[in-house]
Amino acid sequence: MFETTHLHITTWVIGLILFFVAVGLHKSGQVKGSKISHMVLRLFYLLIIGTGAALFFIHSSIDPALYGVKFLLGVLVIGFMEMVLVRSKKGKPTGVMWILLILALLGTLYLGFRLPVGFNFFM
Ligand code: HEM
Repeated sequence: MFETTHLHITTWVIGLILFFVAVGLHKSGQVKGSKISHMVLRLFYLLIIGTGAALFFIHSSIDPALYGVKFLLGVLVIGFMEMVLVRSKKGKPTGVMWILLILALLGTLYLGFRLPVGFNFFM
């Protein structure tokens, strides 16, 4: 169950959807809806990290350095999603956080699909 990447992919896809739902609801002024989707998203952060960490502990001996970078980038994606949401709630500028989020996300997707377990689009 935790050796393959299916569960991990499911958790981060749902996480990304929840993130965009929370951003969209916040932009359209639906504070309560945005708050609820943000709360559920926080639960998904734990599931993403849990399934990612399980993959890491099972497979990282294949290439400890690259798996370490994947771990770090994955955590950064979560960190920047949280920063975007919290800063927009406080009315602070989010431009830099969006750029960092997109860069971290692209790096995570590239490395995830490059590493040997699951899909290998870039090998
Ligand atoms: C939103 C954040 C994240 C995204 C978008 C993401 C994306 C991905 C993708 C696309 C894959 C490849 C799936 C496949 O090839 O079938 C993957 C695999 C993996 N992820 Fe993540 N991930 C995220 C967070 C994390 C976190 C937080 C960790 C560590 C705690 C982590 C650890 C791993 C590991 C170890 C693999 C297996 C790599 C391999 O294919 O050999 N990920 N992830």
